[in-house]
Amino acid sequence: MEYPRAQLVRALVAYFGDDNRRIEHALRVFYHAERIAEEHPECDTEILVAAALLHDVGIKVSEEKHGYNNGKTQEQYGPPVAQELLESIGFPADKTQVVTDIIGNHHSRSKYDYPELAVLKAADLIVNRDEKV
Ligand SMILES: [Fe+2]
Repeated sequence: MEYPRAQLVRALVAYFGDDNRRIEHALRVFYHAERIAEEHPECDTEILVAAALLHDVGIKVSEEKHGYNNGKTQEQYGPPVAQELLESIGFPADKTQVVTDIIGNHHSRSKYDYPELAVLKAADLIVNRDEKV
């Protein structure tokens, strides 16, 4: 895939529209994920970048449907949205399943041993901790 970061950022921004808070959060998680992944060369860059940028897309659906979101609803609503966004940019089909698995598992005990899942969780933790301050 050519310029995966650029294409994924476009998809992220198009999806969240004027919700700067969500876009900022995704970019921060992406930043930390790439740095943490420097110590984890086994990570696939496209999977990691897609998972980092799109990990919270379920929030929007959850808030529209229920007026709130939590870890469980993010995991529930995120994967189908991510799948659609990834298809729309021609993301490699064989990696899409891994990305949606990660998004559907990023707020609970890991069901998969994907290295990109562990890195995303670590990056999200750092950012969520910073945002609480
Ligand atoms: Fe997050």
